[in-house]
Amino acid sequence: MNNTKKQPFFYDITLRDGNQSLKKPWNTYEKELIFNHLTELGVQGVEVGFAAASDMDFEACERLAKISPDNIVISALARCTQNDIIKAAESIKSAKKQRIHTFIAMSPFNMEYVLNKSPNDVRKQAIEAVKFAKETIGKNGEVQFSVEHFGDCMENLDFVIESLKDIVKAGATIINLPNTVERTRPSIFVSMVEKVYNALPKDIIISVHNHNDLGMATATTVESYFKGAVQLECALNGLGERAGNTNMYEVAVALHNAGIDVPLNLSKIYELALIISDMSNVKIYEKAPLIGPEALAHRSGIHQDGAIKTKDMEKGAYRPIHPSLIGRKDDEKFGFTSQSGKTAIYEIISEAGYPITLGEAQRIAPIAKEAAEKIGELSTRNIVDIYYNNVLTVKGAFKFVDFIKSDNSSIKLKFKYNDNDYEIETTGNGPIDSCIKAIKKAGFECEFLNYEQKALNMGSDAVGMTIMYFKAPDGSTIISRGCDENTFIANIKAIFNGLNIIENMRK
Ligand code: KIV
Ligand code: ZN
Repeated sequence: MNNTKKQPFFYDITLRDGNQSLKKPWNTYEKELIFNHLTELGVQGVEVGFAAASDMDFEACERLAKISPDNIVISALARCTQNDIIKAAESIKSAKKQRIHTFIAMSPFNMEYVLNKSPNDVRKQAIEAVKFAKETIGKNGEVQFSVEHFGDCMENLDFVIESLKDIVKAGATIINLPNTVERTRPSIFVSMVEKVYNALPKDIIISVHNHNDLGMATATTVESYFKGAVQLECALNGLGERAGNTNMYEVAVALHNAGIDVPLNLSKIYELALIISDMSNVKIYEKAPLIGPEALAHRSGIHQDGAIKTKDMEKGAYRPIHPSLIGRKDDEKFGFTSQSGKTAIYEIISEAGYPITLGEAQRIAPIAKEAAEKIGELSTRNIVDIYYNNVLTVKGAFKFVDFIKSDNSSIKLKFKYNDNDYEIETTGNGPIDSCIKAIKKAGFECEFLNYEQKALNMGSDAVGMTIMYFKAPDGSTIISRGCDENTFIANIKAIFNGLNIIENMRK
């Protein structure tokens, strides 16, 4: 039995668990900024702080309760002591939806070595604390109880469940099950969650709070949802003690991808991640899912090919979402390394604003690979240089030397073929025709098909680009280019580049 139809309730713990892990915890002003972002993101509940921890945290809880919108649950943390509970209640009293969140450890290990208490004493303390919290908050609010170290309660799960039944009778309506230190693997934790869910009355909200010590918190949280946990405790950027808490963005997107109606404004995620990183001084790991700078980078030729073929589609061959879902404006990145191929060249050169065909990209890919083997990933500048030196200037046996027009419309073309010099006079219908005729007259095959001219913006100068089409010896069409401020020279360069491409093909 589960209740997968219920919309998830996102309970943010950035301002409490996240905050307590920072080298410099946030002050009220900073907490307020983040709180406002959380309301825009659309979370359903916010744990605004641990009121008894410090005067600063108390003040922050008070302030956030005061400015909280009516539809957001505002919660403050308290140990199972009257002092903490009074402080928590006092700090959030101006919120419309108030919640006291009290907790105590119930794992055998913690009860014995940290609390130094018997299980029965812990159970009694929990029940009394919840009763007291319920009396204190009255009809203005509700009580959440957390079994700290629930993930370490495999051997005494029956005791925990029996205690929780009494804790619910004492007034708790939200039961939070933390994997406080990620000791339990997801499937075991989830089966424990399911047992609790099945044992408690159905109007009790089951919540999970997973730490990420072994990197499985998102998986555990997502799967717990499918086994009855409706409240999901998550933190922005996965902030939290040690390796952090469950990352809110990952859970939200994973549920969205699973077809669940996620009540969050997902398009806020990316910008918020950058803000939180800035405000927490915790850098976003390069490879962090969804938000990492490298999360959209493809370097292997196969991935680049698949990514480009599906670039504008909602679903991409090598990405979990379309970046716009989380408000990410940058697109998939194509870095060129020794593992990459023609598709990346094509993409990088086109992105840089230069014309290129896939055939040309294929021709220069081995040159780029050779360079990348030596220096690692090539920059756009490196690739553009390779393009200039191998597409706009094709090295080979033919070298243009001079083109002289005489008065009587004849021309003289001077060029080299290997070490031999040629000086050919001919007439033709314009410079291109004359030049081709001179080359043929010198005894070289050259099947010219067509040409076109374009203005190209290269840096600050507009230059002319001639694109020539030749028939290659194997019958295929060869494209060559020539670039120059002078269109006439651009034509000649395109012809000689074409001759060299064909000659290199022959070889
Ligand atoms: O990790 C934990 O167990 C906690 C509780 C206070 C909920 O943060
Ligand atoms: Zn925690």
